[in-house]
Amino acid sequence: MKKIVVTGSDGQLGSELKYLSATSHDEFFFENRTSLDITDSSAVEHYFSKQEYDICINAAAYTAVDKAEDEVMLAKSINVIGVANLAKACNDNNVVLIHLSTDFVFDGEAKEPYDEFSKTNPLSVYGKTKLQGEKIAMDINPDTFVIRTSWVYSSFGKNFVKTMLKLGSERSELNVVNDQFGSPTYARDLAGIVLKLIDDQISADFGIYNYSNDGIASWYDFASEIMKQANINCKVNPIPTSQFPTSATRPSYSVLDKTKVKNALNVRIPDWQDSLRECLRHLKEIS
Ligand SMILES: NC(=O)c1ccc[n+]([C@@H]2O[C@H](COP(=O)([O-])OP(=O)(O)OC[C@H]3O[C@@H](n4cnc5c(N)ncnc54)[C@H](OP(=O)(O)O)[C@@H]3O)[C@@H](O)[C@H]2O)c1
Repeated sequence: MKKIVVTGSDGQLGSELKYLSATSHDEFFFENRTSLDITDSSAVEHYFSKQEYDICINAAAYTAVDKAEDEVMLAKSINVIGVANLAKACNDNNVVLIHLSTDFVFDGEAKEPYDEFSKTNPLSVYGKTKLQGEKIAMDINPDTFVIRTSWVYSSFGKNFVKTMLKLGSERSELNVVNDQFGSPTYARDLAGIVLKLIDDQISADFGIYNYSNDGIASWYDFASEIMKQANINCKVNPIPTSQFPTSATRPSYSVLDKTKVKNALNVRIPDWQDSLRECLRHLKEIS
């Protein structure tokens, strides 16, 4: 039985890990920002010295992509300094770190899916801090897995799916950008992969792994599918990014190549439409 710490446990991924851990044989320690602030180096050091853990899943992050353009220091303190604090504690105490990162480390200029060796070039403060975070994690603690993911949603927390369901029930029409392409990721599938990684440990082949649901969509495709599956009568209009300016620049193409994780864990990754159906079913159950 492994002892597993989850930081940022009230977020989307943290909540899904909590949900899935109910049927796990491992022992989980779920810590939110109040019980373990990863930016507090002495608190982190003290936490890991109290008892022996095997794995730390860092689900804590600063994820407000647009706000990060103004809150650079705060984003850096969580996505870089906080990660360094965890990596140091993991390295000092022989703990494997599983850290999460993002498709926003890429500039979107590619014409085919990004693999783990593709050149990074983040366009936003958020993307830059996440890239620094993954590098610092692997530098400080060589026993680190970095999982890059994209367009995460869940029945827990705030996300695009829940925003679309709300707006769709309030309005008859919505404009959504149709020139940014990526892959939606159901946080429960992501949590499942993290737990499978722990079970298999990929023969301790540490480093970067991509994970998202399978298939490619624009935000317009994603919104349209949400309305269709939820039977909401709201017209979705495709618009270019130029008509929906945001503080942070996002990559226009950030599809991740998942060959490495598929081979390493011998898994079939669900299509994004099927996982969306699962999430909507769960949302209905808990409403
Ligand atoms: N969401 C996406 O679309 C997306 C896409 C690609 C990659 N990712 C990555 O996937 C991972 C999980 O994302 P998510 O969507 O689950 O994020 P999330 O829902 O925003 O959760 C992040 C959690 O971290 C907590 N946190 C913030 N600062 C902290 C600190 N100093 N100490 C401890 N906890 C802190 C937050 O607490 P508060 O709520 O109190 O701030 C929140 O509960 C992150 O690494 C993220 O960068 C996410």
